[in-house]
Amino acid sequence: MSPNVNAAVPGLLDVFGGRQSARTIHFLCAFGFVAFVIIHVAAVLLSGAFNNLRSMLTGRYDLKGRREE
Ligand code: HEM
Repeated sequence: MSPNVNAAVPGLLDVFGGRQSARTIHFLCAFGFVAFVIIHVAAVLLSGAFNNLRSMLTGRYDLKGRREE
């Protein structure tokens, strides 16, 4: 998509089927990354942010109804 890279490696344009097609692929991949992050952050928050953070830091996860001996 960058004219600079285009000048250095002209063959890349054909690999992606032209600049507009590269833009479309870039947009779809970028959207995929953003959706991935949003969904995973939401999953962490919904499954108990405090418990998850504590387990990341200490290795201990509070399982409801289970007592550690
Ligand atoms: C090695 C990684 C990346 C490179 C080299 C890169 C390169 C570029 C370039 C050159 C443009 C300008 C396109 C134009 O002039 O039309 C652009 C636009 C854009 N990039 Fe990236 N990008 C990268 C990663 C990402 C990531 C990870 C995201 C988002 C998760 C992203 C989102 C966007 C968006 C939203 C635009 C504007 C839309 C467009 O112009 O088509 N990019 N990127």
